[in-house]
Amino acid sequence: MEYTTLSNGVQMPMLGYGVFQIDNAQTEACVADAIDCGYRLIDTAQAYGNEEGVGAAIAKSGVSRDELFITSKVWVSNYGDGNAMRSIDASLRKLETDHLDLMLLHQAYGDYYGAYRDLEKAYEQGKVRAIGVSNFDANRILDICTFAKVKPMVNQIETHVYWQQRENHEVMQKLGVAHEAWGPFAEGANGFFGDPTLTAIGQKYGRGVGQVALRYLMDLGVIVIPKSTHKERMAQNIDVFDFRLSDEDRRQIAAMDANRSIIFDHRNPKVVAGLMNWFENAPKQA
Ligand SMILES: NC(=O)c1ccc[n+]([C@@H]2O[C@H](COP(=O)([O-])OP(=O)(O)OC[C@H]3O[C@@H](n4cnc5c(N)ncnc54)[C@H](OP(=O)(O)O)[C@@H]3O)[C@@H](O)[C@H]2O)c1
Repeated sequence: MEYTTLSNGVQMPMLGYGVFQIDNAQTEACVADAIDCGYRLIDTAQAYGNEEGVGAAIAKSGVSRDELFITSKVWVSNYGDGNAMRSIDASLRKLETDHLDLMLLHQAYGDYYGAYRDLEKAYEQGKVRAIGVSNFDANRILDICTFAKVKPMVNQIETHVYWQQRENHEVMQKLGVAHEAWGPFAEGANGFFGDPTLTAIGQKYGRGVGQVALRYLMDLGVIVIPKSTHKERMAQNIDVFDFRLSDEDRRQIAAMDANRSIIFDHRNPKVVAGLMNWFENAPKQA
């Protein structure tokens, strides 16, 4: 495993396992498989409805808690002073742990400053070892880094070969905020798993498309959290530490950047309107 050091000195694995779109009943078995394959970073969220499944798997894993790196995210319906703290306590109960390694604000909507103040308090109280945000554009990252007491250590944003997020990456690098990719396989969209450029590069090393993409992102300093419900794919996706891409490979993949969202564009008003509707109907965590 490769690690990055967050701005507060916490070591975070560069590769983890994401559990978006895995229902709670299936999550325990999937996370158990992932841990068995060697994953130590697990990425969940209040909105995924599967924190209990993650908690059950880590409790039964036999792996000591300090070897694991557990991330969750506060959902917008739990924002606001006090609400976010109650939701963090509920996440801790569901995850069967007394601390999280990283807690993020899931979206930059609603009273996210109120929620962020609760994240800061949770950090000061030792309930979370690191705090951060998700889906924050460069302008919001600059804003929160300027006005927050504790700067976010991580920003988790859509990042893959088709949207490499160079501008945001540069801004985050200057601010000391680690860049974490969600959707590192573009969720399979855009013909990702049959991509001819990535396939040809992978063939030189006896590697698959997904492995090439993960290696490329990690070489840029981006933390990756691929999701799969299949154990053999989980094993493939973590088997990326014993090969290196050439400068020419990297040049070709850099040229694939279309600099736009493939999955969920937070800058598109229609997409955001749909999201707002979802917030209004989302259940409260606490
Ligand atoms: N902060 C946010 O707003 C946000 C948003 C989205 C995601 N996330 C986080 O990021 C994680 C990863 O993103 P994601 O789950 O959206 O998408 P992803 O990891 O880019 O892609 C997952 C898709 O790829 C398939 N897959 C995985 N490995 C494969 C392989 N080796 N060969 C062929 N197909 C493979 C999976 O299918 P199978 O499962 O059938 O193998 C699934 O359909 C999430 O799980 C979540 O933790 C965060």
